[in-house]
Amino acid sequence: MLCATRLIPGLEDWIKTSGIKEFKIPIDQSEVLSPHKDTEILISSLEDNLDSEALVKIPNLKIISQFAVGVNNIDLEYCRENNIAVGHTPGVLTEATANTALTLLMMLARQAVPATQNAKSGYWRGWEPMGFIGKSLKGKTLGIIGMGRIGAELSRMLKQLFSMNILYYGPSKKPELEKELDANFVELNSLLRESDVVSIHCPLLDTNHKFLNEEKLSLMKQDSILINTARGALIDQDALVEYLNQKKFFGVGLDVTDPEPLSKEHPLYQFDRVVIFPHIGSAENETRDQMASLVFINIENFMKGNPLKASAI
Ligand code: GLV
Repeated sequence: MLCATRLIPGLEDWIKTSGIKEFKIPIDQSEVLSPHKDTEILISSLEDNLDSEALVKIPNLKIISQFAVGVNNIDLEYCRENNIAVGHTPGVLTEATANTALTLLMMLARQAVPATQNAKSGYWRGWEPMGFIGKSLKGKTLGIIGMGRIGAELSRMLKQLFSMNILYYGPSKKPELEKELDANFVELNSLLRESDVVSIHCPLLDTNHKFLNEEKLSLMKQDSILINTARGALIDQDALVEYLNQKKFFGVGLDVTDPEPLSKEHPLYQFDRVVIFPHIGSAENETRDQMASLVFINIENFMKGNPLKASAI
């Protein structure tokens, strides 16, 4: 039996050709968490909390094929111990997510939200020599936390567009990218101190929850721009609000928050210089189709007894 927690592109057509006879789509979160004794194949999304408590209730589970690259919602240790394969969708969403980070950055650098609101709300009185002054990115320093596929793609874009100097921090040095992008590996504190734009691209792990805390945020330049398209829980949001209240940051762009959705009363919405997207990093038509294909290929490979095309464990 196959269960899918969300309808993903092409799912119904693929099931017809897959040879899978028993399936259930889409089922909601509460159903995922209730016992599914017969489920062997689970198509999950990043909002499904697949911790050991949930997984123990799906005793026949053989494979989780996640429609996302991040797998922080899944207890991978439990899956390893219980021989459950875990697939995900890296690679195909690299450009789309870098595009999202670039969009957030440009919106903030050019004050796009307050400027649009001004025009729309009837306050546009004429051309203003001093109005909505943005920030040039030319030759400025970009700090990438987590120089994986997406961090590298954003670096390429910003190198090409604005000749930005690239600093990066992560678990390992990337000599080829250093050559390609003229990028320099630095310790996290130096990156935070020296960058005009900091963009986060690392996975959320047990060890890095809220790593961008009060102390780390304090190191950032007063008028820097902070972008997060990775996971909301990487930043201590209370500390972030505190610094925004103290007039720190030229802008903060978040495609991810903690929790999601972020309730409309949250203080982060009060700031003109904060742009919040509802987690749309990979939301391009072509990308979502490619993600779905990879979800299906992972399952097909598994059913044939082959290694998954993209395994998360
Ligand atoms: C999106 O956040 C993903 O992990 O694919």
